[in-house]
Amino acid sequence: MQKILVARPIFPDVIDRLKQYVDVDWNNGETLSAEALKARLADKDGAITMGDPIDASTFAAAPRLRVVSNMAVGYNNFDMAAFDAANVLGTNTPDVLNETTADFGWALMMAAARRVTESEHYLRAGKWQKWSFDMFLGADVHGATLGVIGMGRIGQALARRARGFNMRVIYHNRSRVAPEIERELNAEYRAKEDLLKQADHVVLVLPYTPENHHTIGAAELALMKPTATLTNIARGGIVDDAALAQALRERRIASAGLDVFEGEPSVHPALLEVDNVVLTPHIASASDATRRAMANLAADNLIAGLGLGPRAGQPPNAINPGVIGKARA
Ligand code: DGY
Repeated sequence: MQKILVARPIFPDVIDRLKQYVDVDWNNGETLSAEALKARLADKDGAITMGDPIDASTFAAAPRLRVVSNMAVGYNNFDMAAFDAANVLGTNTPDVLNETTADFGWALMMAAARRVTESEHYLRAGKWQKWSFDMFLGADVHGATLGVIGMGRIGQALARRARGFNMRVIYHNRSRVAPEIERELNAEYRAKEDLLKQADHVVLVLPYTPENHHTIGAAELALMKPTATLTNIARGGIVDDAALAQALRERRIASAGLDVFEGEPSVHPALLEVDNVVLTPHIASASDATRRAMANLAADNLIAGLGLGPRAGQPPNAINPGVIGKARA
């Protein structure tokens, strides 16, 4: 039987499914250090990871490893050049999380715009003594301009929801989406700078790449309206968190909603000091149904990638399908 590592805790029934095909070593405990991960992979043919860094040094330590299945749509933890060089297949879990993640983008955007957590903290602290006309005045979402940066599948799901709120939608993306999608979403393309100047609510839904590092920094924040909100459901590192904390503290933008952070699970201490930000621990895809779908898809990808099961050799979500069938280098 081929051997695999499931690098982190996951639904036990998914482990049971995997055991029908492979010998499973399950790390159902603390996150493994980079060195511990390599040691556990030394005799493995495959692995399921959740954001764990995988690069050439992993493959040097794990000569049998042929498939690494990430339980996430984002795979910036994979060095894909190293995967290609070693003929190791990488897979991810797109699509099953689009709607759930888009829902959460709205939850954060609305919470930021209407100061939901800030006012809850005030109430819980026993500070609410009387109703007042100007308590926690926020910004309207309905009828406002939504600016989506990153118009992939999740960005489109997010923009589609704007119709019900009678919003104007503008977007920025590496390349324009097809005209029929623009029509369906009633979305107009903008250069990034124009979007930042015009949007009332900016939502980031782009993948992390070195080119996208600090897509939003001090200069970009300075372009935004002082009444605007910024929501990041994409990846840490896309926003310069220190610059954002300063802009929030100085009220250069109204508020922010953040689900992802540079260096998470650490959070920039300055973000913890400001009131006008809603902070959540990377849970945008965390509905029970969606996380189960992601886990099962990660298992399907791994089983098929290892040449097993009903889709042997045809994993549903190969990132680098060119390596399928090649001997491990
Ligand atoms: C994803 O799927 O990329 C989510 O951010 C969970 O990691």
